[in-house]
Amino acid sequence: MATRLNDYGLNLGMPKPNSQTNLYDHSEAKVTLYSNYLSIYLNVLHRANMKRIYLYDLFCGEGVYDDGGKGSPIIALECIKNHFYANGQSCPNVCVTFNDAEKSQIEPEKWKAERVKELAQNIFVPDTVQVGNTKIEYQTLIKKVIERSNQMGEKERALVFIDPWGYKEIDPEDIKHLLSNSKTEVILFLPIYFMSRFVNKSKKDLDYKGGEALRRFLGKLYGGLDRVPHVESQKKFIYQTQEQFKNYLGVRYVDSFKIERDNDNNWFAIYFFTNSERGFEKMLEAKWRVDKKRGSEFKAGDSVALPIFEEREVAAYDQKVLKLIQENAGVTNRDLKRFGLENNFLPKHTKAVLDDLRKYHSIEITALDGKPATSYYLGDDERLVNIKCKS
Ligand SMILES: C[S@@+](CC[C@H](N)C(=O)[O-])C[C@H]1O[C@@H](n2cnc3c(N)ncnc32)[C@H](O)[C@@H]1O
Repeated sequence: MATRLNDYGLNLGMPKPNSQTNLYDHSEAKVTLYSNYLSIYLNVLHRANMKRIYLYDLFCGEGVYDDGGKGSPIIALECIKNHFYANGQSCPNVCVTFNDAEKSQIEPEKWKAERVKELAQNIFVPDTVQVGNTKIEYQTLIKKVIERSNQMGEKERALVFIDPWGYKEIDPEDIKHLLSNSKTEVILFLPIYFMSRFVNKSKKDLDYKGGEALRRFLGKLYGGLDRVPHVESQKKFIYQTQEQFKNYLGVRYVDSFKIERDNDNNWFAIYFFTNSERGFEKMLEAKWRVDKKRGSEFKAGDSVALPIFEEREVAAYDQKVLKLIQENAGVTNRDLKRFGLENNFLPKHTKAVLDDLRKYHSIEITALDGKPATSYYLGDDERLVNIKCKS
């Protein structure tokens, strides 16, 4: 079998036998995305002169897998090291916590947390970075993390990475509490395939034991099981879950990235929650840079593209933009830029939507400084223009 390289230049190799002792392709994509997010996060917060950053990896795993694949804790430490060297050997104060409550399956005499601690000793860590290793049950630890996060000072921030095997431990309310201080950001990995295939059955058959965790999770997220929509497709479910997270959490920005396992239509999703516009825009830019064609989707070993048009369609983004500028006379370029980001689209995507809308509608741009307006100025922080649809 020929060597397979994914879009990030990672070697996908042969199909692998055990996801607990080897790093599956979709897990490799997941940690690569995590690493991208983390390096942008460090850059943005370093430039903003943050005093301290807390990084929590609450399900940190083995560290390094049998096949040499690097898990999230190793990826995070390498990210911090790279940040240090790329920034004139400087790095903000970072308190890292790697947690895993189980014994290693690769070295059964050790806890995973101990294994990660040993492996981490081979990686350079700047003096400003402290690393702690714990083996606490998630549901106990998350309460402590929420408490600690709510005590953060003005110049402190936290990033919490939640990467469980399933979702039975995850309570949406905990994520809500984590985000309530507006200084914490959360990355959550969810096995959409396992969830979406049981939604309809779990809703119909309340005696179905296998659906208990799902009923709990979605019932809480939607404020009642009867409000959970019928699942038409996994991609739609990823999008609906993203939008419902936004409603439920009261958080301004929620992004999702889809990852397909082994080309078998089994989808996973990484959700990223934040209130920071600047951080979020950088994340979106990086996401579309990583994969210009797909932007929000990773298919292991496959080159089929999900064009921006499909993203626009799934999100019904064109109709949303049209409604906004038809129903509100005073929409400015800044409003539209923010509206785009809130819907996970960059200014250039919103520009493309406006260009398409112009083919069928009369869109008027009026500059508020009285000078001529020749474009939408979506990326321009200096000029203010009014954009409205007259038909
Ligand atoms: C998907 S794996 C994490 C993979 C890891 N992030 C990586 O990149 O290698 C989930 C981990 O959660 C741990 N785990 C399972 N239940 C847990 C619990 N209740 N509390 C804490 N850790 C748990 C397992 O030992 C397992 O290593």
